Amino acid sequence: MNDVFAGKHLVLGLSGGVACYKSAMLCRLLVQAGATVQVVMTEAAEQFMTPVTMQALSGRAVYTSQWDAREPNNMPHINLSREADAILIAPCSADFIARLAQGRSDELLSLMCLARPIDKVPLVLAPAMNREMWTHPATQRNLSRVQYDGATVLGVGNGSQACGETGDGRMLEPEEIMEELAGVFTAKTLQGQHLLITAGPTFEAIDPVRGITNLSSGKMGFAIARAAKAAGAEVTLVAGPVHLPTPHGVTRINVQSARQMLDAVQSQVGNASIFIATAAVADWRPAEFSDQKIKKDGSGDVPAMAFVENPDILATVAQSDAAKYGNLYCVGFAAESHDLLKHASAKRLRKGVPLLVGNIGPATFGKDENALLLIDDNGTKELPHASKDALARQLVEEIAQRLPTVQGV
Ligand code: C5P
Repeated sequence: MNDVFAGKHLVLGLSGGVACYKSAMLCRLLVQAGATVQVVMTEAAEQFMTPVTMQALSGRAVYTSQWDAREPNNMPHINLSREADAILIAPCSADFIARLAQGRSDELLSLMCLARPIDKVPLVLAPAMNREMWTHPATQRNLSRVQYDGATVLGVGNGSQACGETGDGRMLEPEEIMEELAGVFTAKTLQGQHLLITAGPTFEAIDPVRGITNLSSGKMGFAIARAAKAAGAEVTLVAGPVHLPTPHGVTRINVQSARQMLDAVQSQVGNASIFIATAAVADWRPAEFSDQKIKKDGSGDVPAMAFVENPDILATVAQSDAAKYGNLYCVGFAAESHDLLKHASAKRLRKGVPLLVGNIGPATFGKDENALLLIDDNGTKELPHASKDALARQLVEEIAQRLPTVQGV
């Protein structure tokens, strides 16, 4: 997701709330991702976080007053809002939402929101408040109002709150806000599409403590899930055993074995319009599973082990389910160690998919970068070495262009 923010200029507005502590990390992440961040704080926000901290993290003096004489024209609300690619209010308190709903403008942050060029500068709100305040009809009414007026309102988290109560109203985590904000800067080329994607390795159990797996990290598949979500798709991610956080707003189904992965995919494929198989599915599994741990008996003999072939999830979906469900666009991956074009082209025909994405497996397993070779009926296209996030976004665009409904427009 990161290079979405490179070169972007964001105004990060803090209103009063305990969640201001998360905004320090959010600011840091945005700066690390290449954005310039101008922090604006309300008087209430200064009770929770000092401008000193936010200045240090953003590298820019914080604005707190509409009477700030540092601006030559003495109009910080105009200047700040004209420079911004987006204004993000995090945390956005119940009071601040009420102020926006009313179009109030008696302090810098609300004044700046009101003064922003409404068609050019998106306003994104990350609410944070006590659960009763969140569900109160006045807050919900104000939220509807500000959405109607063009603001993007992010969801809230559920859990224990600083007040000791438990429920809805926590501000999203900084990483989640980053993902949502990336969506604001992404064209909605997959709006209305439902993407089903497999990712990660499978684990084929030998006995209760052992099994066969592989080095797939799941990073490419998770990056595609994130990019597709940002492009407006509904996303269901069937994940093998990986330690990666679920992209915000993505439905995740965890599985272990190839057969569980096939079951999960087949239970979801009826709702999907795109299926992408990035998972490194084990080709074979032990023919027998031992209920008990296989013990060393001291004789030096090794246990005999027979294997059976796993179902090919992609081929099954592409060749039978796709026909059953009509307009399902299937994309396969091929991790090769050599002769990428030759092997990947053959694989595309064997699997029966319109688009096959080749990569050099050993060069990319576990890494944050990759390079892709796209193969379809019309030939090949290289997506050169880049971060998996950047490649995922490019791949999503390539898929969007190839969808039958889009081609027909
Ligand atoms: O045959 P190979 O494993 O190289 O094929 C790779 C492609 O097929 C990937 O898209 C992978 O997710 C998919 N695949 C699958 N089920 C298998 C094996 C591979 O879906 N059993």
